[in-house]
Amino acid sequence: MNIIRCLNAHDVALKAYEIFKHQLHTKPHSVLGLATGSSPILLYQELILGVQNKELSFKDVSTFNLDEYVGMDSTHPQSYAYFMKTQLFDHVDIQLHHTHIPHGLAHDLDLECKLYNEALDQYHVDIQLLGIGSNGHIGFNEPFTPFESVTHVVKLKESTRQDNAIFFNTLEEVPTHAISMGIQNILKAKKIVLLAIGKKKAHAIKAMVEGPIHESCPGSILQTHPDVTLIIDEEAASLLSQYKS
Ligand code: GLP
Repeated sequence: MNIIRCLNAHDVALKAYEIFKHQLHTKPHSVLGLATGSSPILLYQELILGVQNKELSFKDVSTFNLDEYVGMDSTHPQSYAYFMKTQLFDHVDIQLHHTHIPHGLAHDLDLECKLYNEALDQYHVDIQLLGIGSNGHIGFNEPFTPFESVTHVVKLKESTRQDNAIFFNTLEEVPTHAISMGIQNILKAKKIVLLAIGKKKAHAIKAMVEGPIHESCPGSILQTHPDVTLIIDEEAASLLSQYKS
């Protein structure tokens, strides 16, 4: 894994921006795997500025999001579809029919997962953007999700619901289930860029980078991928052996 240690969250976003800018310059028809949560927000702001400054364009880009809460449609303010619309899609020149997010309100969730997998199989993601949960989850692949998994319905761990409660008024409002790309979908990306900010991520980052490759830490499977770049701040990197003083 290539590890880029940054001074702060803004620096993380700028480093990630350079990778995405290079990708879109090299291949305007890129397929991007996108993430939600707090980690990518500053990167999305940089990408919006990049489009406004005419440094890059999303005109020919296609996107696949990692996950969506079950029971929420795109108008729900806490849905990941709404997040993507307000944090990125509304502000760049992307064609909305080129964007893909699992439908959280689908009547038949198993069918929705199957259709999402089929759509993913028709494309080849150039860069998959990831965050990491404090328990090591990637996408919504919680600890002990089989490494062979593809898009599936997930029962969220209580720790994940508590972490994500910051986006809701109460813990009770946080959904109990989500649809998530599986580990195999993520590993198929040509390149993976993972962002992590803050002390809360330090244990997960250490387990992912230095721990055994084990389903107890879903992120540890990234050790097997040939092109992974971690862009992390000093706090998230603080438990890594190479940075310990
Ligand atoms: C959420 C999302 C993940 C995200 C992770 C970290 O549960 N499903 O895709 O990477 O948690 O979120 P944050 O960036 O807010 O710390």
